[in-house]
Amino acid sequence: MDGNGRWAKAHHLPRVAGHRAGAQAVRRTVESAIRHGVGWLTLYAFSSENWRRSPGEVLDLTGLLRAYLRSEVRELRSQGVRLRFIGERSRFDGDIVTHLDEAERETAGNTRLNLTLALSYGARAEIATAARTAARLVAEGALRPEDIDESCFGDLLFTAGMPDPDLIIRTSGEQRLSNFLLWQSAYAELLFLDVLWPDFGPEHFAGALAEFAHRERRFGARPGD
Ligand code: IPE
Ligand code: MG
Repeated sequence: MDGNGRWAKAHHLPRVAGHRAGAQAVRRTVESAIRHGVGWLTLYAFSSENWRRSPGEVLDLTGLLRAYLRSEVRELRSQGVRLRFIGERSRFDGDIVTHLDEAERETAGNTRLNLTLALSYGARAEIATAARTAARLVAEGALRPEDIDESCFGDLLFTAGMPDPDLIIRTSGEQRLSNFLLWQSAYAELLFLDVLWPDFGPEHFAGALAEFAHRERRFGARPGD
């Protein structure tokens, strides 16, 4: 979800106004996902690197997260949404961590839409942590090196038990993954849109699904296989 700052600038507003508008786009996108019957939606809301933004902006972003959790979780729960959070949640303030834990617990029985927010998430850190865990298990004698395969390693990632993404959409015209789901995106279709995240609406969501439907996915196999 990129382009909040540029959206604010284009509207002669402070950056925080862009982040607020971005939160509205999150609400719209969750509704679109439910309407289209998309089962899994993962939103990159805050990267490990975002902690390096100015203290004021970090405060704005964590404040918005807190407000979003307070105001949305009940509604999401009643809509059948199961919430998950991937990333280093312990880096957030204690009250936010409590909200995150509660939201996961309270929605664990829902199945309509699996909504995952990547918060303080970075794929390289995720992979390094999984490697460390595997090494520790081997050292403890709980795992044999020859048993570390793709499936076993995947189970050590934040996304254990979740399907790999089929489609990754990045807004605002940038064409890179920026440390998002690097392991999991091995065969994901990538879609780069020029629209700034706060302007992302139902028409963009529907357009992305239509584009995805046109892609021929072979997962490394020969054409026609
Ligand atoms: C994305 O918008 C929001 C977050 C990273 C939380 P940006 O803040 O990166 O917006 P630009 O890139 O400055 O336009
Ligand atoms: Mg950006």
